[in-house]
Amino acid sequence: MANEKKSCLRGEGLTKVFGLGRTRTVAVDHVDFDFKEGEIISIVGESGSGKTTLAKMLLGLINPTEGEIYFQGQKRDIKTHKKKKEYWRNIQAIFQDPFSSYNIFNKIDSVLLDCISMRGGRRLPKDQKIEMMTEACSFVNLKFEELTNKYPFELSGGQQQRLMIARIFLLKPQILLADEPTSMIDACSRATILDMLMNLRDDIGMTPIFITHDIGLAYYVSDTVYIMEKGVFVESGSADEVILHPKEPYTKRLINDVPKIYEEWDLSTV
Ligand SMILES: Nc1ncnc2c1ncn2[C@@H]1O[C@H](COP(=O)(O)OP(=O)(O)OP(=O)(O)O)[C@@H](O)[C@H]1O
Ligand SMILES: [Mg+2]
Repeated sequence: MANEKKSCLRGEGLTKVFGLGRTRTVAVDHVDFDFKEGEIISIVGESGSGKTTLAKMLLGLINPTEGEIYFQGQKRDIKTHKKKKEYWRNIQAIFQDPFSSYNIFNKIDSVLLDCISMRGGRRLPKDQKIEMMTEACSFVNLKFEELTNKYPFELSGGQQQRLMIARIFLLKPQILLADEPTSMIDACSRATILDMLMNLRDDIGMTPIFITHDIGLAYYVSDTVYIMEKGVFVESGSADEVILHPKEPYTKRLINDVPKIYEEWDLSTV
């Protein structure tokens, strides 16, 4: 169909099994999905439902045990290091624990310079690079002058999280996997972070995929919601469909756990 939205990431029978024998865990169990370009997607499920495992497969950090991933309609090929690096120009992630995303021996300057290089800006003049880093920092309300020559661990949790978003600002990926990006911060900064991600989506046309156990957040931010239970998508559809009219008992239970869905994520009160 001509006016159907383009597929950005599609999975077919995607499966990940860890361990053998008694320790065997089917973390992700034959999931099918088709994420469309420009759509805001949330994957919601309880702890241990397989969300991070799925994200790691999508990123190419771990290999699926079974199944296929299609990127922009083509079977994904990241067999060589070169192809993997090329793939990572298109898809990036921010994780639960921002600290784990940084190499602790790298100063903030080099974290940001690496992003510029990844986008092909290695040979740009120094002052232009500084201008780009300054712009990226100010996008997330950080001051580059105050960060230069520091290490990421010298920042607060909230600042580290914002630095991650500054990286995304420079990398401009087409897809961003955000795995509980707001878990370390208070409600007010949480709304700010979400706001920044949404602005980024509008500025660079990025497709964000939120991974969360917070069905309230999913309702607030997303167009399409996938509900994950024990490695399986038990329900999916528009946020209104799934969250206001849930069919599955598991979804109903997740909703009951969040009594104040609407209030908690109402940004107009921030
Ligand atoms: N590297 C690993 N080796 C063995 N088992 C693993 C590994 N990673 C994850 N698992 C198992 O796979 C299952 C899904 O884990 P996963 O981290 O994907 O859950 P999650 O939905 O992200 O949970 P949370 O909300 O707590 O982050 C769990 O049972 C977990 O113990
Ligand atoms: Mg997880």
